[in-house]
Amino acid sequence: MALQLGGTVSRTGQGEYGRTALSLTPRVSSPLLPDWPATSSVWMSHGDAITAVPGGFVATATTPGAPVAAMHDPERRLFGLQFHPEVVHTDRGGEVFDHFLIDVCGCAPGWTHVSIIEQQVAAVRAQVGGDRVLCALSGGVDSAVAAALVHKAVGDQLTCVFVDTGLMRAGEADQVEDTFRRQFKVDLVHVKAADRYFTALAGVTDPERKRKIIGELFIRIFEEVARDLGSGGAGDDGPRFLVQGTLYPDVIESGSDTAANIKSHHNVGGLPDDLKFDLVEPLRLLFKDEVRAVGEELGLPHEIVWRQPFPGPGLAVRIIGEVTPERAEILRAADAVVVEEIRRAGLYRELWQSFAVLPAVKTVGVMGDGRTYAYPVVIRAVTSDDAMTADWARLPYDLVERIASRVINEVEGVNRVALDVTSKPPGTIEWE
Ligand code: XMP
Repeated sequence: MALQLGGTVSRTGQGEYGRTALSLTPRVSSPLLPDWPATSSVWMSHGDAITAVPGGFVATATTPGAPVAAMHDPERRLFGLQFHPEVVHTDRGGEVFDHFLIDVCGCAPGWTHVSIIEQQVAAVRAQVGGDRVLCALSGGVDSAVAAALVHKAVGDQLTCVFVDTGLMRAGEADQVEDTFRRQFKVDLVHVKAADRYFTALAGVTDPERKRKIIGELFIRIFEEVARDLGSGGAGDDGPRFLVQGTLYPDVIESGSDTAANIKSHHNVGGLPDDLKFDLVEPLRLLFKDEVRAVGEELGLPHEIVWRQPFPGPGLAVRIIGEVTPERAEILRAADAVVVEEIRRAGLYRELWQSFAVLPAVKTVGVMGDGRTYAYPVVIRAVTSDDAMTADWARLPYDLVERIASRVINEVEGVNRVALDVTSKPPGTIEWE
């Protein structure tokens, strides 16, 4: 901006990288820094500097290496900053954005958790009218928040359905029963469908086929439940609407005209074409942190709000190769150990996800007097804000060791533990 509007940008030979002291120009006020202290700490990263501001501008702040660290043209309402307001190391950097958006641009800060709830409650009521609604509960935070929102909107028009696919985490089915019957007092239908899933998945190893099969069976089961819920009277085919906890990253990653299809998520791209429900997706525009905030606002218990995400297809995308009841049992037991130790170490909430993966290979080991030939288990733990990118978590070695020895000692069929040290990209969080 300085260069194009006629100012001077020079190589002063004095760069600034990292923390530096920002001094406001005395007696010049800037709408972006209206009540800042005379000096504060900001983050810089530059090797050149503005040595003369363009006509109409005033320098509103300086640093030792930048004669113009902030500038402002009051007439044309143009603003420039050389320091980085967006990093945590800049004191009060976030306020710069507030002042720019609200005071300068005149935006109204209307996107709050309360307003999201109000908007979505109104939208759900408008969409659903007096019809009945089914909600797919998985036990995860997304479907729980979606259910709570829809329950707030339409009360007992809502029936929640939990399909136990046999691919859930240890204890999850009981937990769902408990929480939703006790806490929400919603009408809950618990479908025990593990056999159907394992039959449908027999011999299938391709990840995308697994997802499609699981997604389709899931919808078929829902249709059956919906039919059963119909009164049988003329014109009553049961609930017309289906709630899904689809989030914005799912929408993006399932592809659009401009985004490539990375994976077909079972709650978006994998839906069969002849779906008989109209979808209600009250979280479709939200990222995970916003969903959690909405969940807290709705008064959901912490254990649900802060539960790590779990994919719709469940353990199937963590069982590489064929999904069998035996392999699901091995993974579930190993996963329970991983999660228990991560919790015990106080890291559960800090990590975006932490779980076990079961590869499709066996390796040789030696236990006691004998040779073993069994599965390895991979520990996958990542940090992330929204699952679009992720970093592998630097778990303490003694924690990794505890997990490894417990998994090998306690889970039959496992003789080796490995740690996944791949970030996203290039990897994805799940293995399939
Ligand atoms: P990936 O593996 O793509 O995962 O890095 C990103 C996030 O999405 C979750 N995930 C899914 N969630 N249906 C879901 O509802 C799916 O098919 C699915 N696949 C991955 C994954 O656990 C991570 O949080």
